[in-house]
Amino acid sequence: MILPIYTYGQPVLRKVAEDIDKDYPNLTQLIQDMYDTLDRSEGIGLAAPQVGLNIRLVVINLDIISEDYPEYKGYIHTFINPYIEEYDETETDIMEEGCLSLPGVHESVKRPKRIRVTYLDENFQEHDEWVTGYLARVMQHEFDHLDGVVFTDHLTGLRKQLTRAKLQQIIKGKFNCAYKVKVKR
Ligand code: NI
Repeated sequence: MILPIYTYGQPVLRKVAEDIDKDYPNLTQLIQDMYDTLDRSEGIGLAAPQVGLNIRLVVINLDIISEDYPEYKGYIHTFINPYIEEYDETETDIMEEGCLSLPGVHESVKRPKRIRVTYLDENFQEHDEWVTGYLARVMQHEFDHLDGVVFTDHLTGLRKQLTRAKLQQIIKGKFNCAYKVKVKR
């Protein structure tokens, strides 16, 4: 089932999300719905707050960019209760990001290249690993959503000011996108 994407201005995008356990109702179906929603909107990552749920759950599909990044062929993964444990601040890079909850906004964001993450997979197996490259960027963007942070929060100076006007338009529902959304009313 395709779920509507909650757009900027929805309070759920500003909350710290809560851990879940195996007993979370209909979790398998929810994960499938999140993948379906991600496919339909042609995104690479989706966090549960973006479908209105205040829980620590993220799906990432990098297979769709594997023409440009062959190392991510078949990379489709679910992250339950993920946390970024360490940021390796020795190297950063700057790349353009976008977000399904911020339609039409694309800005360059500086982030550390390497992070250590802990999470459970869909079988509730624990993982603790260092991640680099594009995946590390996507994880930082998605896991930020679980702490009420969106990528434009990382902007500074003039870019931040210019983006603010666009965000106000999103709150008012003045934007175009090809997928189903739930705007703050
Ligand atoms: Ni996002």
